[in-house]
Amino acid sequence: MRGSLTRALAGALGLVTAATGLVAGAAPAVADGVVVGGSPAAIADAPWVVALSSRDRFGGTRAGQFCGGVVVAPTKVLTAAHCLGREVLGGAPWQLRDFSVIAGRAALLGQGGQEVRIADTWVNPDYDPSTNSGDLAVLTLAESLPQSYVIEVAPPGGAAENPGTAARVYGWGDTTGSGRYASSLRSAQVQVLPDAACERAYPGGFGGVSYRGDTMLCAGDPGGGRDACQGDSGGPLVAGGLLVGLVSWGSGCGEAENPGVYTRVSTVLPKRI
Ligand code: ARG
Repeated sequence: MRGSLTRALAGALGLVTAATGLVAGAAPAVADGVVVGGSPAAIADAPWVVALSSRDRFGGTRAGQFCGGVVVAPTKVLTAAHCLGREVLGGAPWQLRDFSVIAGRAALLGQGGQEVRIADTWVNPDYDPSTNSGDLAVLTLAESLPQSYVIEVAPPGGAAENPGTAARVYGWGDTTGSGRYASSLRSAQVQVLPDAACERAYPGGFGGVSYRGDTMLCAGDPGGGRDACQGDSGGPLVAGGLLVGLVSWGSGCGEAENPGVYTRVSTVLPKRI
């Protein structure tokens, strides 16, 4: 149990320490390159990706970015439930007076796009912080984003979730596995992996978290090197033009034997939000 929590919160906690200038315990570097092993992404090609931001909490050097999110309706953004945890935000979400999303902007310190305040937050009541199952939250924006930013959610059990399907993950997270956070949006190509790959990697027991395919989706690079990493949590995994996952957890970053675990949006997202 303890191990799971550490994994789930490592990303955002790493950013807290980065913002305050302290050095967090660094994970071993596994690849160079959200996302590790990725490349710069243009926001025009991925207008649904947003950064969750609070400069009050995380400092201004990276515009307060601490997690990712994805636009699923003009006033609705999905993110990981663990991004809204007390350990991350230091209190309840509504206590962060400048909690916003940065949309339409790839470079965190750049111009363009918009920053929109979050008017309301909803955390999946089935989210289990000890196992990370159901790691999804819905943010309601104070103002609408353009309809052109919206991405469609994949249907449950559809082709986009099939093992072997090419997918891309997006974010401003650690690019090295050792605490180097991106200042501009990056993406990496991975593939949807069979549940068995994550069941093998994350069998649970002895304080570890286990993978469960009904609420989680396994994806990665079978050869290792390309993966999401700390700070990418809540950001999208896109396959066939549809949203299939939200960055949730994993052991290390880009290790061939430890794929990324994503929230399976098709089954966890309620029919109406
Ligand atoms: N929990 C991390 C975060 O809060 C995301 C970790 C994803 N790790 C991975 N190897 N895919 O940012």
